[in-house]
Amino acid sequence: MVAPKLVGIAGSFNRPSKTYALVQHVAELASSHYAFESKIYDLHDVGPSLGTSLWRKDLDDQARRVIDDIVSADALIIGSPTYKGSYPGLFKHLIDLIDPHELRAKPIIITATGGGDRHALMVEHQLRPLFGFFMSHTLPTAVYASDRDFTDYKVSSEPLSKRIDEVIGELATFFPGATALLAAAE
Ligand SMILES: Cc1cc2nc3c(=O)[nH]c(=O)nc-3n(C[C@H](O)[C@H](O)[C@H](O)COP(=O)(O)O)c2cc1C
Repeated sequence: MVAPKLVGIAGSFNRPSKTYALVQHVAELASSHYAFESKIYDLHDVGPSLGTSLWRKDLDDQARRVIDDIVSADALIIGSPTYKGSYPGLFKHLIDLIDPHELRAKPIIITATGGGDRHALMVEHQLRPLFGFFMSHTLPTAVYASDRDFTDYKVSSEPLSKRIDEVIGELATFFPGATALLAAAE
């Protein structure tokens, strides 16, 4: 059996990054439930050609590989830091280089981090409409985490963990064969 592919993209340059830590945490949990093969990228992995490319054909191989991986994934975890109440411009530019049909009907877990709770609804007001344009299946529970949900760049809050569990459960609709895959892997 071929394992379904999960790709996470953290729209941050920071290393270490809370957004990357959150995406990684969600990916690990999702993989243990659904036997995904997962891969996670941040904007460093995409590399410098992103900022100078207006079209996908202008990207270097490194950046093109990341986009190829995103569009060929069976499910995505999108993670964005909050910048001025929204997602960073360069993260949006990465998404701008994807054709609308390439994310159509793809299940997407929406996650974001911010310094505080004031902009928690950016997951609903910014990220969800962005993937609405692509007609993706954004999962009902969006996950927003602030500084106090992390300890040493690890998810450490119970309310956040509960929310993550909810969205992991929502993936079941898309991967009904996961139990068989997990059994085969044991
Ligand atoms: C340019 C900039 C703008 C920011 N704007 C906001 C904001 O509007 N609201 C907020 O809650 N946090 C804001 N932050 C804080 C970041 O969203 C927060 O530290 C985030 O968790 C960083 O993620 P990272 O560690 O993955 O880079 C801003 C940070 C930067 C650098």
